[in-house]
Amino acid sequence: MSLESVVMKSYNQHKNDLKNSRKTWLVTGCAGFIGSNLIETLLLLDQRVVGLDNFSTGYQHNLDEVQSLVSDQQWRRFSFIEGDICDLAVCHDVCSGVDYVLHQAALGSVPRSISDPIATNQNNITGFLNMLLAARDAEVESFTYASSSAIYGDHPALPKVEEVTGKPLSPYAITKYVNELYAGIFADSYDFKSVGLRYFNVFGKRQDPQGAYAAVIPKWTESMIKGQPVYINGDGETSRDFCFIDNAVQANLLAALADDEAKDQAYNVAVGDRTTLNELFDELKKGLANNGIICQQQPVYREFRAGDVRHSQADIGKAQRLLGYVPQYRVGAGIEQAMGWYVDQIRKLL
Ligand SMILES: NC(=O)c1ccc[n+]([C@@H]2O[C@H](COP(=O)([O-])OP(=O)(O)OC[C@H]3O[C@@H](n4cnc5c(N)ncnc54)[C@H](O)[C@@H]3O)[C@@H](O)[C@H]2O)c1
Repeated sequence: MSLESVVMKSYNQHKNDLKNSRKTWLVTGCAGFIGSNLIETLLLLDQRVVGLDNFSTGYQHNLDEVQSLVSDQQWRRFSFIEGDICDLAVCHDVCSGVDYVLHQAALGSVPRSISDPIATNQNNITGFLNMLLAARDAEVESFTYASSSAIYGDHPALPKVEEVTGKPLSPYAITKYVNELYAGIFADSYDFKSVGLRYFNVFGKRQDPQGAYAAVIPKWTESMIKGQPVYINGDGETSRDFCFIDNAVQANLLAALADDEAKDQAYNVAVGDRTTLNELFDELKKGLANNGIICQQQPVYREFRAGDVRHSQADIGKAQRLLGYVPQYRVGAGIEQAMGWYVDQIRKLL
């Protein structure tokens, strides 16, 4: 038996255990990309789920899509609260009676944080602190939260290991760094159990292709389908460790259910691969061709973007060892899974 099948069994075992013992989960940011994928998985596992979102970057149509993918009975186990994590009373309300918190709500995007650092600070630091306090007061079993690979800042070492971080390169990166510092203080001061997940460029269904701050994969895919120019910031040799959404969902469940020894720490959530933007462009072209869309265009190169790190690649050994994390999808396989969805959605918008 390969190592992969041994460890995967443990993720499957967790899922089987959940099916046999219903828990209550709070997912903040549930109308967004990662949050809506989390509630989908949890509802399919027959869990009770409370969702919180203020629709600042999330959508009702993401929730509608999840509803269409689960049974009526499973959907009845979902309760949605429209509200803001910047409101402490709301945070207390939604944490009441919850076993596990998966805190995803935040304002993403490095460039957004450079153009509006105050909004990013409010949502990502004040909102985060509210959620920590409310979860502590509700005595939840565990608090898993979205950190970011942006934490590594200007440190040049590759692959990124959790202990070696650099100077943050954007207000967004500072907020995620502060999240981890607060989580550490809550562990020391209140013995509060949390796990930070440093996501590396997560992609997949329900990731928003639109708007100035869209992520590269949905944005390029939309441009390619519409025959609009695809812009590469820099020379295209900038690289990222693209992580398919199912891997990120797996990491969340494993982190929430981990033993106490694995808590009070942050983990890289990625694949351990490095794909340049030029390679990504070719992968997306291939994925579209497999869906019957032939894209003839070449990318348009322009200036590097402020705040972006040049290379990013994770060492995922710590998550493998302590959480039993085994990513099931490398970038090509993830694009294959996601491309049908992107094509359907973007065609609907045309
Ligand atoms: N997608 C990635 O590659 C990536 C990488 C690193 C970190 N992250 C982090 O993962 C988390 C989820 O990201 P995503 O890609 O799903 O983004 P998203 O924008 O799709 O989802 C975020 C959700 O949070 C909600 N939200 C924002 N502020 C809120 C507030 N004050 N109160 C209540 N709801 C609020 C938004 O409406 C949205 O639905 C974020 O914390 C983000 O910083 C994502």
